[in-house]
Amino acid sequence: MKITDTSDLWWKTSVVYCLDVETYLDHDGDGVGDFAGLAQRIDYLADLGVTCLWLMPFYPTADRDDGYDVTDFYGVDPRLGTHGDVVEVIRTARDRGIRVIVDLVVNHTADTHPWFVAARRSRNSRYRDYYVWRDEPPANNVNTVFPGEETTLWELDEKSGQYYLHTFYRHQPDLNIGNPAVRDEIAKTIGFWLQLGISGFRVDAVPFLIEVPEGEDLADPHEYLRDLRRFLRRRSREAVLLGEVNLPYKEQLDYFGDNQGEELTLQFDFIGMQALYLSLARSDPRPLAKALRARPAIAPEAQWANFVRNHDELTLDKLTDAEREEVFAAFAPDERQRVYGRGITRRLPTMLGGDPRRIRMVYSLLFSLPGVPVLFYGEEIGMGENPDILGRTSVRTPMQWSDSRNGGFSPAAPSRLTSRPPEGGYAPEHINASQQLNDDESLLHFIRKLAARYRISPEIGWGTAELLEHDAPSVLVHSVRADVGRMVALHNFADEPARVRLALEDEPEGAELTDLFGPDRLALGPAGRVELDLPAYGWRWLRVARPGDGRLG
Ligand code: NOJ
Repeated sequence: MKITDTSDLWWKTSVVYCLDVETYLDHDGDGVGDFAGLAQRIDYLADLGVTCLWLMPFYPTADRDDGYDVTDFYGVDPRLGTHGDVVEVIRTARDRGIRVIVDLVVNHTADTHPWFVAARRSRNSRYRDYYVWRDEPPANNVNTVFPGEETTLWELDEKSGQYYLHTFYRHQPDLNIGNPAVRDEIAKTIGFWLQLGISGFRVDAVPFLIEVPEGEDLADPHEYLRDLRRFLRRRSREAVLLGEVNLPYKEQLDYFGDNQGEELTLQFDFIGMQALYLSLARSDPRPLAKALRARPAIAPEAQWANFVRNHDELTLDKLTDAEREEVFAAFAPDERQRVYGRGITRRLPTMLGGDPRRIRMVYSLLFSLPGVPVLFYGEEIGMGENPDILGRTSVRTPMQWSDSRNGGFSPAAPSRLTSRPPEGGYAPEHINASQQLNDDESLLHFIRKLAARYRISPEIGWGTAELLEHDAPSVLVHSVRADVGRMVALHNFADEPARVRLALEDEPEGAELTDLFGPDRLALGPAGRVELDLPAYGWRWLRVARPGDGRLG
């Protein structure tokens, strides 16, 4: 497909930014972030280069899983604002070229959701079958998602004498998607938010959502995902489903659908992310290279979403035990920096000891890897986690806007905040957006520049990726090419300079490599040979400039 035929495919080259309204900016001073606050920061996001804003759950909630326990799929948590405020944000964002996607959390509800309250009141309730009930817990009653916090998947409801399924916490009963009434509710929910102007959904826990409980007789569960996608398409040509599917690549492929693009539009690359951390721990790009080689090619109607941090624990569950231990030893030496035996509760800069060279190398990779980059709020300024908060929520601290009270997040008394910024070196006095806005050398400016270069390099989102052979073991060299041209990126994982000898054999004589971040132009020698020097943790993006192709940069 030609990159110029992209009308509804805006997401192929988007820059995604995830935030929780609750911790972004508190406008009314009650200690809780709100939509009115977020509306004031849309220009900041536009300036950063964000084109897709992913809002974590903002619905009415029992608030025992940070909003992932919804009590009304159609509502807005009154602490955060009203539907009017949501629409203002969507409209303002759209005006600045940013589309908004929202979390769709329909694998389960809160146990205080009126459906579940009614369902457990009586076996005859019309809502009983909205959930999954058994007289006895099935034999596979293990493998909880939150080991240490939950021990079973089935909880006895004393009153009605049956067990209900909860993939996550016991206060999050799973919805029964085998029930057509539930599927209708989900469709209506999707339709509702689309009507308010959003451009799609980050779909929570997709494999669990479509999983058919043992004993249920349902046709292909992927048919349900195809159905959802068809419905979405009918309601909006531009809307996407960005799915959370933490499975091996081969299985992930099924979630794009047989004719890819029939089910999820985008999927996070959990495998690549985990391999990246192994590579960082070893100062050796091979694990990441291996993952990238294994990453299946996907159709133009699908996309990978790359990330180095999200709002959950940094899961390492797909590494081997020994590999996970290596990453733990390198980046989470203290047991309190780990959770569930599989993940890390820290942010990137603290894991990398605050080394700006390494941090920048990782973000350069994030923006140059084939796919779209996804940032978790605060990454652009190098926020750290709050080590005093144990578990997953250590990284969900208030956005650090300035060095004033509560990091400029809220004028309220600190005791009213739902989460506190860290103290010490990563405190708002040292790490904040205002200070970095005024410093051309800051991480914020750097990320802005990466986003800008990414946006004039559509081959990254559209192209075919290749790993190039060369003779510098600490360096990953990858290239992406599409009809618009080709880019080659180099990343040095070691604390030592490296010399890289490359041969771009298929490039025409006279082609040059132009540096997208500097003035260099390097002519390719015979057989496309070129020699490049990288400093320790250095990186480069080089555009292949062919005579007369008129590319920018
Ligand atoms: C995945 C979300 O990312 C996580 O934060 C949440 O706890 C579970 N789904 C349950 O909704």
